Amino acid sequence: MVKLEKYESRFFDALSYQLDEEQSNFTASVDYCLNTRKDLEDHQKTLITITYNDNPVGFFILDVGNDRYRITENTNSVLIRSLSINPEYQGKGIGKDAMNLVSEYVTNHFYGVDELVLAVNFKNENAYHVYVKCGFIDDGKIVD
Ligand SMILES: CC(C)(COP(=O)(O)OP(=O)(O)OC[C@H]1O[C@@H](n2cnc3c(N)ncnc32)[C@H](O)[C@@H]1OP(=O)(O)O)[C@@H](O)C(=O)NCCC(=O)NCCS
Repeated sequence: MVKLEKYESRFFDALSYQLDEEQSNFTASVDYCLNTRKDLEDHQKTLITITYNDNPVGFFILDVGNDRYRITENTNSVLIRSLSINPEYQGKGIGKDAMNLVSEYVTNHFYGVDELVLAVNFKNENAYHVYVKCGFIDDGKIVD
């Protein structure tokens, strides 16, 4: 069963998986988010752990900072970023389940949000497929 939980430092080792070279182009590693970009210190970012049968297997960030305004003008939006699933667990439906749970998570933990936004590299067919399957709508906007 897939669940979303707020990130805790006890999850770090399990989330220190390496993506291959191609996938690394599409997202930031958990190590980069925490240790280089210092996302835990950014109060506009909420770090989320994806668990599968209570094991931490993936990660993403919900961001209410200014970066979302590259995608939307909506001040009631949340940006989903830095999504990844441990390669050992990819292709099992976990990413899709996680993205299907985001809306409910945001409703329960954020006030007044009416839009979830994200950007996906047009070469990243797997991620694009997952987002569309989960109901995200491609508005055709291209972000440099
Ligand atoms: C994109 C990502 C999060 C998807 O997570 P996942 O758990 O592997 O995806 P799922 O198993 O839920 O797959 C959902 C759908 O995508 C397809 N899919 C996912 N990975 C695939 C792969 N490697 N090859 C072919 N199809 C794939 C599945 O077949 C499934 O389609 P279906 O429902 O029509 O059968 C994961 O591949 C990942 O971490 N990629 C690297 C980082 C990345 O690109 N992040 C996104 C940044 S925008």
